[in-house]
Amino acid sequence: MSLSAQAVGHARLHQLAQTHQLKALMTIIRDQNTPRGDFVFYSDRVIRLLVEEGLNYLPVVNKEVITPMGVPFQGVAFEGRICGVSIMRAGESMEQGLRDVCTSVRTGKVLIQRDERTAQPKLYYSKLPKDIANRWVLLLDPMLATGGSAIKCIEVLLEAGVKEERILFINLICSPEGALAMLEQFPKLQIITAEIDEGMDQQKFILPGLGDFGDRYFGTE
Ligand code: PRP
Ligand code: URA
Repeated sequence: MSLSAQAVGHARLHQLAQTHQLKALMTIIRDQNTPRGDFVFYSDRVIRLLVEEGLNYLPVVNKEVITPMGVPFQGVAFEGRICGVSIMRAGESMEQGLRDVCTSVRTGKVLIQRDERTAQPKLYYSKLPKDIANRWVLLLDPMLATGGSAIKCIEVLLEAGVKEERILFINLICSPEGALAMLEQFPKLQIITAEIDEGMDQQKFILPGLGDFGDRYFGTE
């Protein structure tokens, strides 16, 4: 079976529903001719969809409320506390999308940069909520290529006491190689992504991909 087919069928790699809307949004951000303002606007729309989908993987408990009709309704409420952790710099683009649905959410930051020549990740800095060990973590990074950066970040989270099964990696585009490497190394991790691509080029850029997300989003091309 091809790596792409393995990734698509993996039980812990959750792709957003491939609706016409999502495909149109992704087409805009993949287009090399899309101006920066539109790139940011449409990326933000996909990020919002991803964050909303990620919240579906949080546990809930039964909760009864009384409606204005005076009638009990058997519903549910989120259980457990969450926080965001962004892999700087590109992951910071996803923080607002998380704040838009989880007001005043705590957000840790881990600065990891790929060496432009070797594509090896280097950890420079991390600052996490003090009680992160007791929280669910929405880990934010739009691009998953080799998986090196995200794997390094998860090692930082595990070192801080986060339970692996409480990490939800929220990602726009992944390569099959990177996603499978992460899922193999962390057997309880879940990945929520918009699209699974075909592979990578020699410089470990995702194909067909969208180029350098951080440069396009922050205007540093
Ligand atoms: C990009 C991206 C990921 C990483 C993915 O960041 O945002 O963090 O590369 O590649 P990998 O899976 O092979 O590790 P980059 O280091 O280019 O920095 P940036 O966030 O400043 O763009
Ligand atoms: N980082 C990006 O921004 N894009 C890629 O394709 C790979 C790593």
